[in-house]
Amino acid sequence: MQRGLRGRAITFIADPFLQDPLTCVRHWEDALILVEDGRIAYVDDYAAGVRAGRSVELEIDEYPGAIICPGFIDTHVHFPQLEIIGGFGAHLLEWLERYAFPAEQKFGDIDYATRIADLFVRELLRNGTTTASVYCTVHPESVEALFSEAHRRNMRMIAGKVMMDRNAPAALLDTVESSYRQSLQLIERWHGVGRQLYCITPRFAPTSSDAQLAAAGHLWAEHPGTHMQTHICENVTEIERMRELFPDRSSYLDVYRHAGLVGERAIFGHAIHMQEEDFAACHNDGSAIAHCPTSNFFLGSGLFRMFDARDPSRPVTIGLGTDVGGGTSLSQLRTMAAAYETGRLCNTTISPLQALYLATRGGAEALSLDAYIGSIAPGYEADLVVLDPAATPVMKLRADRSESISDLLFGLIMLGDDRAVRATYVAGEPLYRSGIAG
Ligand code: GUN
Ligand code: ZN
Repeated sequence: MQRGLRGRAITFIADPFLQDPLTCVRHWEDALILVEDGRIAYVDDYAAGVRAGRSVELEIDEYPGAIICPGFIDTHVHFPQLEIIGGFGAHLLEWLERYAFPAEQKFGDIDYATRIADLFVRELLRNGTTTASVYCTVHPESVEALFSEAHRRNMRMIAGKVMMDRNAPAALLDTVESSYRQSLQLIERWHGVGRQLYCITPRFAPTSSDAQLAAAGHLWAEHPGTHMQTHICENVTEIERMRELFPDRSSYLDVYRHAGLVGERAIFGHAIHMQEEDFAACHNDGSAIAHCPTSNFFLGSGLFRMFDARDPSRPVTIGLGTDVGGGTSLSQLRTMAAAYETGRLCNTTISPLQALYLATRGGAEALSLDAYIGSIAPGYEADLVVLDPAATPVMKLRADRSESISDLLFGLIMLGDDRAVRATYVAGEPLYRSGIAG
């Protein structure tokens, strides 16, 4: 079935951190986008499309005044932590004990897990996010719930069962053997089913034994198409804990490298305190980093040095993560704003085009999915978000004085949130439209 969208549209064809941003972007002031069987079939100026007869007898969703972008990609988020978003007054390790671990204990109950997974997926769509790399809990039920909710909406989702066999409440611990076996069963059940992709998910070094990390590495090697996610260098006390637990390893990344957990399709959350040697190693072996700026502010973890990580001499691939519930919003617009503010606090400036790149094509590259999602071009999966830069009276005031797409985007990023999402399309289907319930 064919469907059309009409409106201003923007997408990236190259990396604006590595070359002149204006050469990286494709922008149509009035575009016609055609989708067919879940993919983008055509994109060009509307007038050219009409001349070529492409708009004949088509249902066209018209979005005057809006900006159509590739659907947002959240490269790091914990769906079971939705209910503890905004947990008061703690740094990372205390926050885990006080908020995250108690909440996660409820996810062995498939009914509860399904209720929260359904809410989470609907909230992603309300925020314009069409793909996420999701931490579930230690319970297989939590993964089953999340994949089921994503699959029935045909969303491209990456998710995995958290593996942890020490330094957490007994109710949340698995073992080397059970974590391997349960993860394997979930891979066999879900990896490659529809648009679902499995992610091997050892939580972080402090909650896994050497043997469990090694088992995760073996499982990943045995299933080469799967992904791997974990946390790294988020908080100074966490890093001290890692050093005590792994005294023979030369760095945090070395713990994961030793276990076979680095390379293409590996993504490390935070990396705030990562040093040059590990940035270079990430570049060399193709590992990516999820920058989670609202979480880094909220937990007081520190400032991620984007331009060190993206040094053009050895750029590390970076995506944006909301890291809810450590992060404070599921909105990629809020996350882009926090990335910009982090940049200012580091005396650097992330441009609006760079920020939008990170939330779309950059995120797809960080998840090694850039051949499928994150761009508006023929053949790509038709995941799209329609944004209204004049969604509120103040946003309209700000948008009306913008004279460039770049400035229009910047106002949208700094002032926008879920209120600015007019519609979200998944595989060509409008699964969310603002003002329409259900
Ligand atoms: N490190 C290990 N687990 C977590 C988590 O759930 N959230 C964050 N922000 N960091 C972590
Ligand atoms: Zn996290």
